[in-house]
Amino acid sequence: MNHQPLRVALIGPGRISVAHLDAITHDSSLATLVAVCGLPEEKERTEELATRFSAERAVHDTEELLASDDVDAVVVTVPNHVHAPLAVRILQSGKHVLMEKPLANSVTESDTIVRAAEESGLVVMVGQCRRFFRGAQQARDLVESLGRPLTVNHHLGVYVEDAATDWWRSAREAGGLAVGLNGPHVIDTMLWLVDAKPTRVYAQTRRLRDKWEGEDEAIFVLEFDDGSLATGHITLNAKEPVNLRWVNGPNGSLHLSDDRNLWRDGVPVVGEEITPYIEGDASFRAQFAEFVNAVREGRPARPSAEDGRRVVAIMEAIQASQEKGQPITL
Ligand SMILES: NC(=O)c1ccc[n+]([C@@H]2O[C@H](COP(=O)([O-])OP(=O)(O)OC[C@H]3O[C@@H](n4cnc5c(N)ncnc54)[C@H](O)[C@@H]3O)[C@@H](O)[C@H]2O)c1
Repeated sequence: MNHQPLRVALIGPGRISVAHLDAITHDSSLATLVAVCGLPEEKERTEELATRFSAERAVHDTEELLASDDVDAVVVTVPNHVHAPLAVRILQSGKHVLMEKPLANSVTESDTIVRAAEESGLVVMVGQCRRFFRGAQQARDLVESLGRPLTVNHHLGVYVEDAATDWWRSAREAGGLAVGLNGPHVIDTMLWLVDAKPTRVYAQTRRLRDKWEGEDEAIFVLEFDDGSLATGHITLNAKEPVNLRWVNGPNGSLHLSDDRNLWRDGVPVVGEEITPYIEGDASFRAQFAEFVNAVREGRPARPSAEDGRRVVAIMEAIQASQEKGQPITL
């Protein structure tokens, strides 16, 4: 096994890039930050981040980065609609990929990534950072003890006054809006915790404010082949933010709040301070460590490109269910 630090570049020096740059540079035995790469029009921001995180260089041209032979892996923090075309080109240039969620905006796009990963033999991991909180990890360890079938109820609400970045205004670019941005957090943990085959989705979405093209509310019901049932409510209109999951089984209940605080049958299991993670935290560091270990061990990362594709299939079914006014069989 190669224990040399992985030589890593980041493409997309926007809002979430700082959390990843913190993770890449946190443990020098895992990785060396080779480059921060941005578009030519954001030269100043790219250089500022490259300096702040002691990168070997700032790059202002994606093609130049892809042609570099001193980069093993790329962390990708670009808008949702750029994920698939960029991931395929990175894989074709011989570099592993840690892709921010969602893997892509459609199943068809996701398939291009899954295929490029298979053809190259390289690792693709999806950045579902919320799996990596201690509370979420413990929930996953305890969920089997609840028995089957399970019911899961997740309510994820934030208040977004206006689009924080241009591509949020476009439903095509963002993948809707609430579903494209926060759907992956809700759906990925449902699939991960229930660990059964999803069979059917019924959803309704709404736009309560006209600051964007996409939906700012989504409510859905997801059925699984073992009889488990999940409901999700994703909103960008919650002036009182909320992130609560309840998981019930025949033998007990889990309650996970903010992905960090966990109760089993009302008894505290994990309690952690809630701090915003946009500037980086232990979940992003644990996520990055999983990526490096998957590359070193030559195994699929968890979550893999296939895991990301399953999430995208449900995001797509939510939009299809809203359009058709019917449940969608997966
Ligand atoms: N894990 C999380 O909780 C979390 C939080 C925020 C964002 N995200 C995800 O991270 C990604 C980035 O989101 P953000 O909020 O940082 O967006 P952003 O708009 O702030 O940043 C995007 C960056 O990508 C660059 N970019 C745009 N088009 C590009 C192209 N064609 N090639 C190369 N670079 C390009 C932009 O210039 C910018 O630097 C999205 O996929 C989003 O869903 C995840």
